[in-house]
Amino acid sequence: MSRPSPSLETPLLQHITLRDKEAPQKIRKLQRCFVLTGKRSMHYNRHSLVSLELIGESGVGEILITGGAGYIGSHIVKRLLEKGMQIIVLDNLQTGHREAIIGGTFIQGDIGNERILSEIFGVHEIDSVIHMAADCLVGDSTKDPLKYFNNNVSKGIKLLGVMLKHKVKKIVFSSSAAVYGNPPRVPIEEDFPPFPINPYGETKLIFEKLLEGCKVAHGLQYISLRYFNAAGADPDGRIGEDHHPETHLIPTVLRALLRKGRKVPIYGTDYDTPDGTCIRDYIHILDIAEAHISALEALHAGVESEIFNLGNGQGFSVKQIIQAASKVTGRTIPVIETQRRPGDPPILVASSEKIEKKLGWSPRHEKLDEIIDTAWRWHRTHPHGFRSSSLKKGVARWT
Ligand code: UFG
Repeated sequence: MSRPSPSLETPLLQHITLRDKEAPQKIRKLQRCFVLTGKRSMHYNRHSLVSLELIGESGVGEILITGGAGYIGSHIVKRLLEKGMQIIVLDNLQTGHREAIIGGTFIQGDIGNERILSEIFGVHEIDSVIHMAADCLVGDSTKDPLKYFNNNVSKGIKLLGVMLKHKVKKIVFSSSAAVYGNPPRVPIEEDFPPFPINPYGETKLIFEKLLEGCKVAHGLQYISLRYFNAAGADPDGRIGEDHHPETHLIPTVLRALLRKGRKVPIYGTDYDTPDGTCIRDYIHILDIAEAHISALEALHAGVESEIFNLGNGQGFSVKQIIQAASKVTGRTIPVIETQRRPGDPPILVASSEKIEKKLGWSPRHEKLDEIIDTAWRWHRTHPHGFRSSSLKKGVARWT
């Protein structure tokens, strides 16, 4: 017997918003007679038509996270799940890891693929996007600018196009301190004129301009978070940083301790800084994840589109990081001084006043020792990154 069509009934339309922790149970009950009609999940029977809208505890609906299998993305995913949010991760796994996504719905695909994007937006009740999928290495971008403009700009345009077509107008964007280039002074405030000195920073700045254009033309609501140097790992030890090749300072330093014969290159000792090496603002990955929750909630509360720095407000030189890592690990770090790396600005330190004032976010894990210690715990227990876990599983099966 075929189901009655809603249009043939005179349905009583109920709009249910589930905000409480019992939501999953209630949904399971309703799921038995669910059908998908266009973008909306409908449940109907002879007498009633129920439109079901799922809203997490914070008032945020389903969230699409592009690049959620990466280092920063996976920590954000974990935090969103802990907050009970409904998430869909889209990642092509070129640099991300399937094992890094500890929950939610995972779709392997590229943000440049409009067919996949249309299917995702067509089937899921997405109401906001965290856009992280990008190439993100300063040095690499100076060698292969086309890759950066293609992945970070051209493909991002496709994502925006599909979002707008499906009337999804809230986006949190992973931008970067690299947009500032060589700032005139530190700490850097958001209204300093951006002058990127590498293609990576250029692509992030262009995308911010695209967001602003779409805000004016289409009512897009965005928050752009300009990350400073993400570091550390979730203390529960399940996820951490695993890049191939690894080029970032803190993991390079820690890995050098785990592999015999490795030396940490210090790129340039002749910068105009107290010890001649570059100064960066290292921010704990947990603080970055928390800032995304604040940003999403702010968008849903209707804040104006904004750009915020996401940093700790403290600068440490390459040599200071090496010293701190030596203290935390109790080992001497083997180093080799070498020439400057193209595209590196001498000093990047954030002012986080604006985000503190407008979103109420401030770093909670700001101590450098804590940042390095959590990273060290991850690297020590995962000397081969995520592969270490599967290797361990393999060993367990054989014994
Ligand atoms: N460095 C070394 N030796 C290494 C690795 C790095 O001396 O083996 C130096 C770099 O030259 C730089 C500093 O350590 O001066 C930090 O370098 P990272 O590669 O760890 O990070 P970056 O500052 O180049 O870039 C990172 C992110 C970018 C982001 C930027 C914002 O990769 O996406 O922070 O500050 F834009």
